[in-house]
Amino acid sequence: MLTFDRHRRLRSSAAMRDLVRETHLEKSDLIMPVFVDATITDKEEIKSMPGVYRFSLNTILDEVKTIVDLGIQSIIIFGIPDHKDDEGTGAWEDDGIVQQAIRKIKAAYPDLIVIADTCMCEYTSTGHCGIVRDGEVINDESLEYLTKTAVSQAKAGADIIAPSNAMDGFVAAIRQGLDKAGFKTLPIMSYAVKYASSFYGPFRDAADGAPTFGDRKGYQMDPANRLEALREVASDEKEGADFVMVKPGMAFSDIIRDVRNSTNLPLVSYNVSGEYAMVKAAAQNGWIDEEKIVNEILVGLKRAGSDLIITYFAKDVAKRMN
Ligand code: PBG
Repeated sequence: MLTFDRHRRLRSSAAMRDLVRETHLEKSDLIMPVFVDATITDKEEIKSMPGVYRFSLNTILDEVKTIVDLGIQSIIIFGIPDHKDDEGTGAWEDDGIVQQAIRKIKAAYPDLIVIADTCMCEYTSTGHCGIVRDGEVINDESLEYLTKTAVSQAKAGADIIAPSNAMDGFVAAIRQGLDKAGFKTLPIMSYAVKYASSFYGPFRDAADGAPTFGDRKGYQMDPANRLEALREVASDEKEGADFVMVKPGMAFSDIIRDVRNSTNLPLVSYNVSGEYAMVKAAAQNGWIDEEKIVNEILVGLKRAGSDLIITYFAKDVAKRMN
């Protein structure tokens, strides 16, 4: 007699499939990235990211209103300054573009969670994420600048500080800096596992933050490494991170799962610019069904273990959910 399991019993109708679905994507899982640009007066579409714009200070609230009206609860903000220099001044001065934008956004939408990306690459003349001396990105000196940046973002009203510059000790340094400045209760979302990835290509167009020499392999991780990711998470957890992130998402789902199994902190994955651009390009050619593919990607990132997903598709997805 032929014996086998009948898995199809649980797939027999849409209602039955709903009943046994294991992973659910919700609006509260989504974090929408927002670019604010000090060099423009209106909004400009990012060429390699169709549908994603950089906004001026004048237009940023229109975008935030759209996001809030769709029911999205959190944004992560990136800045493009009007000047770059060796010390990345624009990252940490009180009237930096991000600081101004945060003040404006929080005044209009106090309940929206505003996450500040804390890095220097958009602000340094070298395009590197830290301070460069003799062609080297200097770890400990960069921490001082990163901490100044975090504190200035906190003073502007950021709800979460998200350091992404991949220096060793950045969580410890920022935690200490925030505590000293009176921000003991402000959480840190660490880009704990950040690979040196080609998937960031379109973002570097968007934020104008490509390095002018060399690459980021001396501070971001080698995509071939898995155990190293767990060491990074262990360090950041010990240093006081409140969230940990894995970035990019799709090609690193195994890492998301490994990290999920190694920490009890909330886990964020970043569905980055290159992942967005690939889907958009294929969809514009009529080669894939964008809506279904996006859903599959985001559900996949959740199934891998993400609690939250930073994605340029957040608005599109929220619109469909409404
Ligand atoms: C660093 C930063 C980058 C991204 C987010 N924060 C660029 C980089 O590390 O080179 C990339 C995000 C994306 O590709 O969508 N400030």
